Amino acid sequence: MNFRFIENARFEDFARPLFDILFDNMSSVTPFESSRETEFQAWRDAVGEGMKSPKRHIVLIESNNEAIGFFQYYTNNEVFCMEEIQIKPEHRSGEAFRALYGFVLERLPKRIRRVVAFADKRNEKSISVLKHLGLEICGKINENLYRLEGSFKALRNWFYKDEIMTANEIFQKVLERANCIRTETCDGLIFGDESKTVNKVGVCFKLTVDVIRKAVEKSVDMIITHEPSFGAWDNIEGVFGYDIKKLELLKQSGITVYRYHDHCHDSTPDYIHEGFIRTVGLNIEKSYERDWLGISKYDLKEPITARELGLLIKEKLSLDAVRTVGNIDFPVKSIYLGLGSVGVKHVDFLREPGGDLFISGEIFEVCDLEYIRDACALGENKAVLLLGHYGAEYAGMRYFAEELNESLIETVYLDSGEVFGVLK
Ligand SMILES: [Fe+2]
Ligand SMILES: [Fe+2]
Repeated sequence: MNFRFIENARFEDFARPLFDILFDNMSSVTPFESSRETEFQAWRDAVGEGMKSPKRHIVLIESNNEAIGFFQYYTNNEVFCMEEIQIKPEHRSGEAFRALYGFVLERLPKRIRRVVAFADKRNEKSISVLKHLGLEICGKINENLYRLEGSFKALRNWFYKDEIMTANEIFQKVLERANCIRTETCDGLIFGDESKTVNKVGVCFKLTVDVIRKAVEKSVDMIITHEPSFGAWDNIEGVFGYDIKKLELLKQSGITVYRYHDHCHDSTPDYIHEGFIRTVGLNIEKSYERDWLGISKYDLKEPITARELGLLIKEKLSLDAVRTVGNIDFPVKSIYLGLGSVGVKHVDFLREPGGDLFISGEIFEVCDLEYIRDACALGENKAVLLLGHYGAEYAGMRYFAEELNESLIETVYLDSGEVFGVLK
């Protein structure tokens, strides 16, 4: 038995034998209402139309060069939708299904989180197989057709049930989500044993002492952190002062730590931006190509003032304070997200036509922010919102943790909280 993708443009060449397999299989479960020919025309037209989308695929299953089945599916952002799996009865077996899933799972986009399938309510066998794969009935498409949904992690766990991943294997799978693997990067193993087996991952914005304690409490084996872990950044040999005790705490925990910064921003979309946009509930009309790692421009569907947007962000991210620079009371349509820390080179993007508002975590005040204040004094309508480094990035890492939990392995988000307190 072997598998291969049908070229979407050549669907017509395969339509007849595939439909015959479908028709014969259905005849014994939920027969079609019309004749084979009438049903074939309708099916060919509908699936042929669907195959115009590059997101839809059909895997042809062959034995001795003869078509014996097919798997039709599409992917859309986080969703893997299994539209049809048909195999001739004499070729069905647990092994055949596992081999088919093995072929498909390896070739799916890396950010799939949810699995969707449909089954006729009279087809109890199909429903039972889908439930075995971790899907549950969650609604009806019509009187006879159920919609089932599950997490991709459950499907993956079913397939890889004997697989135990090491910390390094998990991190390599995380890196694969980026647009490319960088040779020069701050990302990688920071501390601990990369070959240890992992049952639970902890994800954080910053590996604080409290985060280490929380990780121990939650029996986490591996931590993925966005920011550097010590005053000496990630240079374990150079750890000094108070951090010597922190390193000791980490050693006692036995937890393996990885830094995940560049590749996190270098995914499509940038995890940090995506988590921020979702949490704030920004309505984005257009996303622009990235200007710089971690900095992108967006057009909003509806203009909003920087004051209104700042208050919305403060509420949605539960921040104690949002600081503002420049003129915050004119409506803005285009915003730059430079979440994290940026410099004057980056806030200077505001000079681009339509650049109105820059949102960041922290920016050097005495040069870079004063530059924007001066611009406003010279008649420009420009604004900056400062959320604090944590405030700007934590929602992105929380979003990444949710995704990892649903797509790969049990994962918890470990919140470090803001480094600042605010006097009120
Ligand atoms: Fe970042
Ligand atoms: Fe950052």
